[in-house]
Amino acid sequence: MKLLAFPLLVSLSLLTAAAQAEEVRVYSGRHYNTDRQSYKAFSDQTGIKVRLIEASGISLVERLKREGSNTKADVIILVDAARINNAAKAGLFQSINSPKLNSEVPARYRDPGNRWFGIARRVRAIIINPNQVNPSQVQTYAQLASPDLKGKVCLRNRKNVYNQSLVADQLAIRGEVKTKAWLKGLISNVSQPYFPGDIALIRAVAQGKCGVGVVNHYYLARMRAGINGTKDQKLGNQVKIVMPNPAHVNISAAAVSKYAKNKSAAVKLIEFLASPNGSRGIAGPTFEFPLTGVGGSTYLKGMTKFTPDNVSISQLSALNPKAIQLMAQAGWQ
Ligand SMILES: [Fe+2]
Repeated sequence: MKLLAFPLLVSLSLLTAAAQAEEVRVYSGRHYNTDRQSYKAFSDQTGIKVRLIEASGISLVERLKREGSNTKADVIILVDAARINNAAKAGLFQSINSPKLNSEVPARYRDPGNRWFGIARRVRAIIINPNQVNPSQVQTYAQLASPDLKGKVCLRNRKNVYNQSLVADQLAIRGEVKTKAWLKGLISNVSQPYFPGDIALIRAVAQGKCGVGVVNHYYLARMRAGINGTKDQKLGNQVKIVMPNPAHVNISAAAVSKYAKNKSAAVKLIEFLASPNGSRGIAGPTFEFPLTGVGGSTYLKGMTKFTPDNVSISQLSALNPKAIQLMAQAGWQ
């Protein structure tokens, strides 16, 4: 009896260990239910279970800092260049060596130190009320500063990372002197209070409270798809969208937690999400763009023809403090 019990106990504990090893815990700053479909596809393919903990970007980083080595996070997913790189600089990630990621994620969409990798892309686009502004007048970010748009430009507030990254992008392309002049012109065109979110801004443009606004493209696609209800769908169809050429592209990115308990599964999940199929899977339902190509949703009509500018995600994050400083100086509230 004893002879039998021993191997049984050993194999039971091995089984338990194996079961524990087959789970990867994800802390995500993305608030999209549809991401769960991608995690399920990963689980179906690999047998590794994904346990998801969602929180908004900043609180998630604060939480990781607080938890330190006690964290349960294996994979961390965040949106925006500055946010992901600030977390990297805070020592929350570990660098990973994955030939698959290095070949499948374009260099500009990953950390030169291999601490984070892009999984989906978004464009900061211009939306226009055609009754107030002729879309041919505003084809670039630079034209948002044109005196013709006096009183017609609406912006999200300065705290928002998306606009900080847009200003960082302009700093990288045009340098400080031109960016300062651009910000001065842009802010002098603003007459409405600064908006708390991209959707509120799209509504205001559609309702004619503003002539022009700047938003991430997928918010408009979501409205047009009816995800926020028929009222927003109608408003979404009343505005025009311009994908500036060249376009400022930002990312959602994934990283392995410094204290990951299951590093190999974490790397596998990131490889899955950043692969051509995985990236299409994560980007499709949220109307983001995959790392390469644009996806095929009809609600992306008018948004799929864009040429990304040459600014890398790590450049955007390096210029973030300067961008915030110049925005404050220009009176961006
Ligand atoms: Fe967003």
